[in-house]
Amino acid sequence: MNKKINRIAVMTSGGDSPGMNAAIRAVVRASVYHNLECYGIYRGYQGMIDDSFIELNARSVKNIINKGGTFLKSARSKDFMTKEGRQKAYDNLRAHGIDALVVIGGDGTFTGATIFGKEFNFPVVGVPGTIDNDINGTDFTIGYDTALNTVVEAIDKIRDTANSHDRLFLIEVMGRDAGDIALNSGIGAGAEEILIPEEDMGIERLIESLHRSKASGKTSSIIVVAEGDQIGKNITKLADDIREELPSYDVKVTVLGHIQRGGSPSCYDRVLASRLGVAAVDAIVEGKSHIMVGISHKEVVQVPFDIAINGKKKIDEQLIRVADIVSL
Ligand code: F6P
Repeated sequence: MNKKINRIAVMTSGGDSPGMNAAIRAVVRASVYHNLECYGIYRGYQGMIDDSFIELNARSVKNIINKGGTFLKSARSKDFMTKEGRQKAYDNLRAHGIDALVVIGGDGTFTGATIFGKEFNFPVVGVPGTIDNDINGTDFTIGYDTALNTVVEAIDKIRDTANSHDRLFLIEVMGRDAGDIALNSGIGAGAEEILIPEEDMGIERLIESLHRSKASGKTSSIIVVAEGDQIGKNITKLADDIREELPSYDVKVTVLGHIQRGGSPSCYDRVLASRLGVAAVDAIVEGKSHIMVGISHKEVVQVPFDIAINGKKKIDEQLIRVADIVSL
């Protein structure tokens, strides 16, 4: 029989993403709804080890739904990768009387949760929060929609200069292993080319395609490059290669970087975070553990951590086709 849950803790871990505050807010208020006590842990797993806990109530999370970042702060903890670190974290959880944990983060966070949950037989439920949208089993992760809007807004501005000066811009976007941000923002911003890790285009094909678009009358170009793409990994070298092959183009590089991770969350992300935060606490109350809550075909789903982490999320092939067609 499941042990009765009286007190839970919530934390954010790994790269921050817009909507994490909204998710914490939902977890705290769902706890109140279920008559559970709720604690926050600062700086993710590191805060668990460093005993950085705070008691939260419904009012502790007022006025944060619209704020980017995470008020609980986030970290990538090296200490939690050691057995000693995890033992310390467990001891602190027990000392605070915590019966279950909600972790908000990406695949690294869920990997830590899986190891910890199994090691100490401790109930853990995950909420997918990362701008990369690279978690298997959920159609969307919290922060992805906001990041897309940030990227599109930035590219729109860069396009003005590309157009005015007949330039070719290489724009690097985040997505270590996943091309979702690049592919969707690229379509949304009308990019001529989109380079993603899931599809190795190869430099020759890229150059050929750029020659074709120049011949078709294009005077400027936007190429969106995911940071994890094969030929885009070294974006300055890629720019040099293009300069060599297309000397008539003035080639510029813009790396958008962490601008993509901040800012007020979109309405979509706020609603998603609210739904998943509530679903995480519902799952704990149902006695579930070692699962992530996600969204699939508009419905909230529960996905085992193993599938969320190890299953390969596929890139949408139809979207790649659409990108090719609309950039002609
Ligand atoms: O996982 C989210 C992410 O934004 C990746 O897209 C990016 O590669 C990475 O985090 C950057 O991490 P950091 O903030 O530690 O440099």
